[in-house]
Amino acid sequence: MNHQHAEAVEPFWEEHYARRERVWSGRANQVLVAEMDGAEPGVALDLGCGEGGDAIWLAANGWQVVAIDVSTTALRRGAADARAAGVADRIEWQAHDLAQWSPDRDFDLVSAQFLHSPLPLPREDILKTAAAAVVVGGTLLVVGHAEVPPWAPHAVSPPRFPTSAEVYDALALPAGDWQIERCEESPRDATAPDGRPATLLDHVLRLRRIDGSSSSPPPAAADLGAIRPIPPSGHGSSRIRNSQDPVRPMMR
Ligand SMILES: C[S@@+](CC[C@H](N)C(=O)[O-])C[C@H]1O[C@@H](n2cnc3c(N)ncnc32)[C@H](O)[C@@H]1O
Repeated sequence: MNHQHAEAVEPFWEEHYARRERVWSGRANQVLVAEMDGAEPGVALDLGCGEGGDAIWLAANGWQVVAIDVSTTALRRGAADARAAGVADRIEWQAHDLAQWSPDRDFDLVSAQFLHSPLPLPREDILKTAAAAVVVGGTLLVVGHAEVPPWAPHAVSPPRFPTSAEVYDALALPAGDWQIERCEESPRDATAPDGRPATLLDHVLRLRRIDGSSSSPPPAAADLGAIRPIPPSGHGSSRIRNSQDPVRPMMR
């Protein structure tokens, strides 16, 4: 990403949030809830936390959370909601351009939910940097679009989203250090901006750090036998509303 692009990131997202009273539903993303419900809480990092629905859910479930976004407007909304939910003391809201940020501590969970942008975003580099800060025994959970939402065929960038296997391969993690717990495309019920029900496809990558010392190259995701099959119901078919359900029509 060149300097000009880097300078555009903060104003773009500030304007995106400032244009509306609320952009997201305020609820946590359903895959995060499905994957982390009942997990032993620790310290979590939420990359591109937006208005904080996930951070607040994690905090309410016992986690200490570092929630990062480039938009201070979004962070302010998250902080206000966290105060209202009584979990303000569990969340540290930090404004950074993730393209230029690196962690100064370790985390039990690194979560990236829909870390997408119409602007150039070094997503894999950001995820790689954050993955290095996951403790042994900790989790990296990456969820994002696998398909363009049907209501926004022309408004979405990138025009094609990566599969979970492509996300995994791009991370180039040392094979002995990580176990794949989920690596799949998962359907999700959603509500279109016009209120109609829709089904979206997400990529879901859940990795557990099992060692911190290996440096062998990773196997291709397709070669790995440890990928969990899609459960027949539950993940992706739940009726829980998603943070990504817009409260009003939006650019994506
Ligand atoms: C599609 S939204 C997802 C928000 C939230 N994770 C959710 O699921 O509701 C992407 C978020 O990433 C943030 N973002 C985009 N580029 C960023 C960057 N370079 N550094 C930090 N945050 C960024 C945006 O401000 C926005 O809040």
